[in-house]
Amino acid sequence: MKRPIAYIAGTGRAVPKQVVTNHDLEARGLETNDAWIVERTGIRQRYVAGEGESTRSLATEAARKAMAKAGVSAGEIDLIVVGTATPDRLLPSAACDIQAELGATRAGAFDVSAACTGFVYGCLVAEGMLATGTSETALVIGVEKLSSILNWDDRNTAILFGDGAGAAILRRSRGANAGKGILSTYLRSDGTLGELLWRPSGGAERPFGPDVLVDKSHFIHMAGREVFKHAVRSMAEATDRALDGAKLTASDIDLMIPHQANIRIIEATAKHAGISMDKVYVNVDAYGNTSAASVPIALDEAMQTGRLREGMTALLVAFGAGFTWGSMVVRF
Ligand SMILES: CC(C)(COP(=O)(O)OP(=O)(O)OC[C@H]1O[C@@H](n2cnc3c(N)ncnc32)[C@H](O)[C@@H]1OP(=O)(O)O)[C@@H](O)C(=O)NCCC(=O)NCCS
Repeated sequence: MKRPIAYIAGTGRAVPKQVVTNHDLEARGLETNDAWIVERTGIRQRYVAGEGESTRSLATEAARKAMAKAGVSAGEIDLIVVGTATPDRLLPSAACDIQAELGATRAGAFDVSAACTGFVYGCLVAEGMLATGTSETALVIGVEKLSSILNWDDRNTAILFGDGAGAAILRRSRGANAGKGILSTYLRSDGTLGELLWRPSGGAERPFGPDVLVDKSHFIHMAGREVFKHAVRSMAEATDRALDGAKLTASDIDLMIPHQANIRIIEATAKHAGISMDKVYVNVDAYGNTSAASVPIALDEAMQTGRLREGMTALLVAFGAGFTWGSMVVRF
């Protein structure tokens, strides 16, 4: 089937009310400081969920905004794909929880477990569903409440992550929207590297028990330097493959929207791709790494602020635990 098959008809985002700055982390007694965090990561603050704010509530808010932008009602949505590593509960899926909140009763709903690449994976799945006719109108969400699985005493991880949600409506590229949409996709993973960034307990192999109070295995564990190296390599590969797939070069890209993990990873990816930083969307300073939510939050901001406009071509690229990585070139 000839692309584009699916286009992004509307986007939305939501974050918790509470902002936690690097100075706040320091004031709480974490052995770190603002200058180090800014220099090594580019992060200045992150949003952290408080009372009454959940994966479900953030995702629902982002989804409602995306639906309003796209002019789509809950009854029209026939597919909900949610990328998340932090569902409010493990059974049923976050997607089913969100479906219930939205009243999107016609939809099939499920989660995609691809960590920070979750939104890109979700869009790829949705595009495939639209191509087969299984779906006409898909809602793809990336959402995280990473604060719930962070060890706030571990400076390796506590400084990096934040909470939030981003959402997009995908529809068939038809009629007035015939030329718009996803031009190419690339999807990879390498499970042999899983334990470089993982959450050891909580699954069937190692359910939560009293041990977690001692071994902290219910929190995110990360080998930062190793993750960094693989992230740079994988994001570079993903940008190359997405451009090849679309038969485009870096000069055809109006805006790159990379996963917002670390400014140094973003800069290395842009340099490899030959895309100047003025064509790269960066908001890691304001949000930290919101994992699956990072690309759709950046996408929504770029659209709302006019950085990404109709007729432009964007390169979306992400990397995450698994390891997983993926990319897509999209014409807006
Ligand atoms: C975590 C990360 C910021 C650490 O930065 P780094 O430059 O690799 O730093 P290192 O781990 O080599 O540590 C350098 C020094 O800073 C110290 N340090 C580590 N974390 C610190 C912190 N939060 N505050 C202050 N000092 C810190 C270390 O102890 C070390 O000190 P030493 O030289 O005296 O031993 C970086 O590795 C990274 O971003 N990795 C990728 C993580 C990521 O993106 N994960 C999600 C992927 S989706």
